[in-house]
Amino acid sequence: MSDPTTEGGLTGRLSFSRIVSQRAHSMDASGIRRVFDLAAKMKDPINLSIGQPDFPVPQVMKDAAKAAIDADRNGYTVTQGIPELLDATWNHLRTDVGWDGPGEHRAMAITSGTSGGLLLAAMAVLDPGDEIIIPDPYFVMYAQLGKMTGGKVVRCDTYPDFRMTAERIERCITPRTKAVIVCTPSNPCGTVLTGAELREIVDLCLRKDILLISDEIYDEFCFSDAREDGRCPSPARYTDQCLLVRGFGKTYGCTGWRLGYVAGPREVVGEIFKFQQYSYVCAPSMAQWGVLPAFGVDLSPVIRDYENRRQMVVDAFAGITSVPRPGGAFYAFVEVPKRLDMTGQQFIEKALEHRVLVIPGNVFSARDTHFRISFATRPDRLAEGLAVLRGLMTA
Ligand SMILES: Cc1ncc(COP(=O)(O)O)c(C=O)c1O
Repeated sequence: MSDPTTEGGLTGRLSFSRIVSQRAHSMDASGIRRVFDLAAKMKDPINLSIGQPDFPVPQVMKDAAKAAIDADRNGYTVTQGIPELLDATWNHLRTDVGWDGPGEHRAMAITSGTSGGLLLAAMAVLDPGDEIIIPDPYFVMYAQLGKMTGGKVVRCDTYPDFRMTAERIERCITPRTKAVIVCTPSNPCGTVLTGAELREIVDLCLRKDILLISDEIYDEFCFSDAREDGRCPSPARYTDQCLLVRGFGKTYGCTGWRLGYVAGPREVVGEIFKFQQYSYVCAPSMAQWGVLPAFGVDLSPVIRDYENRRQMVVDAFAGITSVPRPGGAFYAFVEVPKRLDMTGQQFIEKALEHRVLVIPGNVFSARDTHFRISFATRPDRLAEGLAVLRGLMTA
């Protein structure tokens, strides 16, 4: 029986099992959220699950965002982003990857987060049944792009070293392959591909007529031993026929501002403009003004700090289990020692009993043999958490 909704109102309930789409039903809530929910209930957890930096937004950026609000720059912006930010970002790309600005064949859009850029890119290239290759382990959103667009996600197994090489990608290509996502530095493994590896991937994609989507959200978190000529390797140095997807959130600690950008072939970015127009409309206005001074911020002290934490993680597990040394980002993907005979899920539940939060590998992978640790946490807390995890592995 239905309850009256309001006094004097009509009764009746909708049959949501019919109304809610199959697409929605087929999607699982993010496994990361489940760990966060557990953390929320826990008193003083050692949280090594967080996917965002633990430093405050640089003051110049806070000031710029506040000034924009005070100056009444709170309305819609043009779909592709404010010209000032587009110019600043093109300047950055000029020195970073050698792309000399927009043109007949190149364009950029400021997007609502890197996620916004990735979703719109997938919408722009995938028709039902088309295939997109993603790494496995992957950033959680990649696996959902098929369901969201009608395309099909094909997972490229990168175990045990987590390097998504041209050879491994080639094995996944079929006549329906439209695109491949490469993520370097990667979430969840911290893998940074070399320039030579990326060049081979570019060559493969050009030969096979496949769009390379390069998710470089962690590009600034590239450690000294993974840099080449002082820069994070990028496929964009070898071609402008790839789609660069980058973000401001992780780099400057402003994940909640929801700001990223896509740059690459106008034929694709132009379609992204259309989807943006009818969905997000534009990226948040005050955030666009806020990140304008970002490219002038010196991040080197932060990166050095994260590099030291990376070393803490590598040292903690040395001789106990396998952890490919992360070259960037702030994650490591750690194998649960085989002799424990436990899945990633079982191991993280044990860790939870000791108030340490890490994410099971099956959230990022078809396998459940690892867990992800984030070192974007205060070094003293990180040390405490690492000691617990080591203890569980050696007990
Ligand atoms: C590899 C990767 N790409 C994209 C994103 C999404 O970033 P944003 O917050 O800018 O949407 C994340 C966030 O964790 C990520 O790890």
